[in-house]
Amino acid sequence: MLKGLLDLHNLLRWLILILLLVNIIKNYADLKKPFAKAHKKLGLWLMICAHITLLVGLGILAVDLSALADKSGIMSNEALRFKFVEHPVAMIIAIVLITIGKGVAKKDISDLKKHRKAATLFLIALILILIMIPWSTSSLVPGM
Ligand code: HEM
Ligand code: HEM
Repeated sequence: MLKGLLDLHNLLRWLILILLLVNIIKNYADLKKPFAKAHKKLGLWLMICAHITLLVGLGILAVDLSALADKSGIMSNEALRFKFVEHPVAMIIAIVLITIGKGVAKKDISDLKKHRKAATLFLIALILILIMIPWSTSSLVPGM
C-alpha cells in the first residue's frame, strides 16, 4: 500500500516537472498573445497534479510518522529532518505558489500581466521543487 503511494508520488514528480516547464514556456512564448483557454487548461492540469501529489505526500507522511518509534530524534537526524520537515514544508510552499499561479487567470489584470505573473510563480516553484526532490535516495523510474 505504502509502496504504491510512494511510486505514485514518484511518478507525479515527472508530470509536475513537465507541466511546470510547458506552462512556463507557453506563458513566456505567448506574452503578447491573449491569455487563452489553452493557458488556463495547462495551469489546471498542473494544479491537479500538484494537489494529488500533496494528498499522497501527506498520506505517506502520516503513515511513516506513526510507524516511527522515536519522534524526538527527527530534528537532530539529517535524513529524518529532510523527510519529515524540510521536503514537506518546501513542497507545500511550492504547491501554494502553483495554486496562486493558476489563480492568476481569474484576476482582473491585463493578459500580459497574467502570462508574466503565472510564469514567474511557476518558475520559482520549479526551482524550489528541483532543489527539494530527494534525487539521491529516490529511483528515477517509479516502481524500480
Ligand atoms: C490535501 C489535499 C488538498 C488540499 C489541502 C487542497 C487545497 C486546495 C485549495 C486551498 C484550493 C483553492 C485554490 C484557489 O483559491 O483557487 C483548491 C482548489 C482545487 N483543488 Fe485542491 N486540495 C487538495 C487536494 C486536491 C486533489 C486530490 C485534487 C484533484 C484530484 C484537487 C484539485 C483541485 C482543483 C481542480 C481545484 C480548483 C482549481 C480552480 O480554481 O479551478 N485538490 N485545493
Ligand atoms: C511538488 C511536490 C512534490 C514532489 C515533486 C515530491 C517528490 C518526491 C520524490 C521524488 C520522492 C521520492 C519517492 C521515492 O523514493 O520513490 C518523495 C518522497 C516523499 N515525499 Fe514528496 N514530493 C512533493 C511533495 C510532497 C509533500 C507536499 C509531502 C508531504 C506533505 C511529501 C512527502 C514525502 C514523503 C514523506 C516522502 C518519503 C521520503 C522517504 O521515504 O524517504 N512530498 N517526494
